[in-house]
Order: sequence, then structure tokens, then C-alpha cells
Amino acid sequence: MSEKLAAVESHFRSQLAEGLQPLHLISFFGIAAILITLLRLSNRTDIPKIRNLPELPGIPVFGSLFLLGKHHARNCARLAKTYGDVFQVRLGNRRFIYANSFEAVKELWIKNQSALISRPTFWTFHSVVSETQGAFTLGTSPWSESVKRARKAAATALNRQAVQTYLPFIDLESTTSINELFTNLKLDDDIDPNGYFQRFSLNISLTLNYGIRLDGTVRDHLLTEVVAVERELGNIRGIAHNWQDYVPLLRLWPGFKTNAIKFRARRDEYILSFFNHLKQRIADGTDNPCIAGNVLKDPEAKLNDRELKSICLTMVAAGLDTLPGNINMTIAYLSSPHGQEIQARLYQEIINAYPNEDPWHAVLIEEKSEYVRSFVKEVLRYWSTLNLSFNRQSIKDIQYKGATIPAGTPFLMNMWAANHDPDQFASPMQFIPERFMGISEAGAGTQHYGYGAGTRMCAGAHLANRELYAIFCRLVLAYQIKETPDVKSRPILDTIECNSVPTSMVTQPKPFKVRFVPRDEKKLAKWIEESFEKTARL
Ligand code: HEM
Repeated sequence: MSEKLAAVESHFRSQLAEGLQPLHLISFFGIAAILITLLRLSNRTDIPKIRNLPELPGIPVFGSLFLLGKHHARNCARLAKTYGDVFQVRLGNRRFIYANSFEAVKELWIKNQSALISRPTFWTFHSVVSETQGAFTLGTSPWSESVKRARKAAATALNRQAVQTYLPFIDLESTTSINELFTNLKLDDDIDPNGYFQRFSLNISLTLNYGIRLDGTVRDHLLTEVVAVERELGNIRGIAHNWQDYVPLLRLWPGFKTNAIKFRARRDEYILSFFNHLKQRIADGTDNPCIAGNVLKDPEAKLNDRELKSICLTMVAAGLDTLPGNINMTIAYLSSPHGQEIQARLYQEIINAYPNEDPWHAVLIEEKSEYVRSFVKEVLRYWSTLNLSFNRQSIKDIQYKGATIPAGTPFLMNMWAANHDPDQFASPMQFIPERFMGISEAGAGTQHYGYGAGTRMCAGAHLANRELYAIFCRLVLAYQIKETPDVKSRPILDTIECNSVPTSMVTQPKPFKVRFVPRDEKKLAKWIEESFEKTARL
């Protein structure tokens, strides 16, 4: 039996050897070559691997997408301990540079600011969502002469001097929110503050841009629609949200496109309606002065339709993306035991800063309290609600520690990591309101990266600072913010875990409740009445 088997085996061996000689060897090498090419293709990136710069490990096709997971900011901060604070990352077929420390951001975003002036584009947001408007928000626009014009117009409308003329709008909107809280306290002891400050922020932007505001309650249909759509668009802009932007094969899955198209259609509807409303008011002669109105009415307008559209899209999205997250998470923190101490100090500092004035009105006019100014900076540093900022793209080669990073490379600022960098901030994971006190504003450079850094830094920073200063002062003057006795409804105070959509561009706080206890109901009612009287003609 074994002899027979040995004979069969030797027959096959000789057959195999003979067959492999020319034909099989060719097909073997052919298949191997195809496999190697496929592997190379699946690892290929738009920007080739950069020499002398560490790279995160990755797998074919997906690169480091699985490694970074949902919490890019926190995971990158951890990986930076092994790979250094600046590394290259392959996300599918695209290569990015991530900066994860305060110093690295300074080096790349500030020292190389003229090179880092552009922004990259992405399939989902730039090709699908923005197709019908034909324009992008400023924060998502690659650099061009046209973007330069639109940015200049927006920056002029949002500069320090201009913001000083918007104080009545901040008065009206902060009072509206505080008043509605006051009314709703009678119905429920514990309140989720989210909607109140989304309206605060959206209404100020709408007033500045279109000269209109939403005058419904926090459950107003249009308000909730704009908030829901802008929130989803914020998700779509999250770097970790759309794997189809890096793995083109995934675009064949229809769901990715239909979801983006659905939200695009909903956004188009209200953007058009705001615009038509303004045009009608101009025709009727009942329009209020506003950014879009000024352009439409100026026969020598320096902006074309596309540039105006870009400003309109920006104004609706910009404040909604960012302000409410900061306000709501700070309210959450103030309700905690440490927050009680902070509120007591805030209250006293506000009273001391405006000794001969009524603080309710005076806090709008001038930011006199150094403690509150420092508190606002700490809010922006600590929460870092845009934790990966908005992406940049280089327009020139950049030399970085022996590496040449070619023009056209996308850059990501890990704002959360840089703002929690222990080499820059003592006890970075602690909320310390007085952290920025005693640092002179002049010449101190960028003290935190809450508004980004360098050439494309937030154009709305003056307005946002003013809004934050006013709303925190007024909230503290009006209420003591306390924890709810219902433990399950209390907020999560971890800067990453508090986010309900970790892959979104901006922190979207998980729902929570706090208790607002009026300090002095009569005084509050009087302040509200006075502010409504002052702003009645707006
Ligand atoms: C707390 C509130 C806000 C925060 C934390 C914030 C943060 C940011 C950040 C991180 C960037 C990207 C900067 C960079 O690339 O370095 C940005 C861009 C921008 N922000 Fe803000 N922002 C806020 C409020 C606002 C408001 C209220 C407006 C206007 C109404 C505004 C208008 C803009 C614009 C136009 C850009 C794009 C600038 C450009 O690409 O040239 N922001 N913001």
C-alpha cells in the first residue's frame, strides 16, 4: 500500500515540477505582482510619505482610521507620547499632519502662517452638501482671491469697533434667554439649558447678517430645524465622521450620499427663506441695517453672489457650531461643587468691577473684570469644543525639524491636546478661572487656541468674547446655578466624555439638567423689564 502511495506521490511531484517550469512560474509571479500592486495601491496616499517625520501605524485601505477611532483628539494626544507631538497619519488614501502640543501649533500655525492659509476639501461636505449653494462657509473654503474678499468683509463686520455697535442685540438676546428660563422655572425646577443658548447665538448672527431674528420660544419650529440641520452638518465636517472621504470605495454605499443630500436640501430651504425675506424687506423699505443688506443695496458692491452666499452660510453656522457648547458646558460645570465656589467669586468680582453702576447693564458696555475675562479664556481653553479645530492646507513647502512637508498637505490642529498641554499649562486638566490673570494682553501672543491660531484664526472672536462675557455675567447676576437632586440628570463634566457625538466637529453636550435659583426675583424682573424697554425698537 505504502509503495503504491509513494509511486503516486513521485508521479505528481514530477508532473508538478515539469508544469511549474514555464507556465506556472509565470502565473505565480503574475498573481504575486497583482497582489503587491493592489497592496501598494491600497496604501497609496495623495501626498507621498514624508521623510523624517514619524508616521502612525496603519492597515491597507483604511490607514490609521481604526487606530484613531471615534476620539481622535484624545487618542492622538496619547499616541503623541510614543510618536512625538507632530506626526503624519494616513486616513484611507489621504495623508495628514497632526500637531498635538502648544509649541508645535505655535511653530506650524503661527511661525508658518503664510504657508498654512488654505483649507482642504472633502467629498461629503464640498462635493455633496455644498453642491447646490455653489459656495462654502469661510471656515471650509480653500484660499483664493475671492475668499480673501469675503473674509475681509466678514472680518470688518466683526471687528472690535463693529462689535461695540452690536451691544443692543446682545442685550436683547441674553435677556430673552434669561427671561424664558425665569418663566420656565415656574413649570419645572430643573432645566436643560441647551436650546436657550442656541437661540441666543443664532439670533445674534441672524440679526447681524439678515437683520431678522426668530421670536418664538426655545421650541420654535424654525429654531429647532436650523439647530438640527447645522448640528448634522457639523457632524459631517468632523474629521473622524466620514470614512467615505478617505476610502472612495465606500462612496458606492448610497446611504452616505442620501443622508448628506437630505440635510443639504433642508439647509437650502432656510438659507433661501432668510435671503428672500431680506430682499422683500429691502423692496418694502422695512429692512434693518445688516451685512447682507449692505452688500445687496450697494450698487458698487465689492462682493459677488458667491462671496455673499459664503458669508451668509458662515454667519448661520459659525456661532451655532461653537458658542452654545461653551456656554452649556460651563453652566454644567458651574452647577458642580467647585462651580459653587467659582460662582461666589464671579458674583463678587462683577460687583467690585462696576461699583457705581448697575452691573446688569454695565457688563455689556465694557469688560472691566479681569477675573471674568480670565474665566472666559479658561472656558475656551478647558472645553476646547472644536477639539480638532478646522483643518488647514499648506500652500508652500514647510520645513519642520528636518522634514520637508510639501505644499498641498492638510494639517490638523489637535486643539484639545494643545490646550491641555502640561508643558504650557499647569494642571491642564483642571478648570482654573484665574489662570490667565496677570498676563498682559499686549504682546502675550495667542494665550490659548480656542479660536485657532494664525492667518485663518476665528474671525468672530471679538463678538464671541463679548457674548460670552455678557452672558456669564448676567447668568451669575440673575441666578445661582445648582446641581439637580436627580443624579441621573446631572451633567458629565469630562471634556471628552460630555460629547454626545464624539466624531462631530464640535462638542454637542449630552443632555443634562441643572437648577437655576434666582438670586433676587424682584431685581431680576426689573432688569428684564428695563432691557426689554431699551431694546423694544430693535
Ligand atoms: C465661542 C465661540 C467660537 C469659537 C470657540 C470659535 C472657534 C473657531 C475656530 C477654532 C476657527 C478655526 C480657526 C483656525 O483655523 O485657526 C474658527 C473660524 C471661524 N470663525 Fe469662529 N468661533 C466662535 C464663534 C464665532 C462667531 C460668533 C463667528 C461669527 C459670527 C465666527 C466666525 C468664524 C469665521 C468666519 C471663521 C473662519 C475664518 C477663516 O477661515 O478665515 N466664529 N472659529
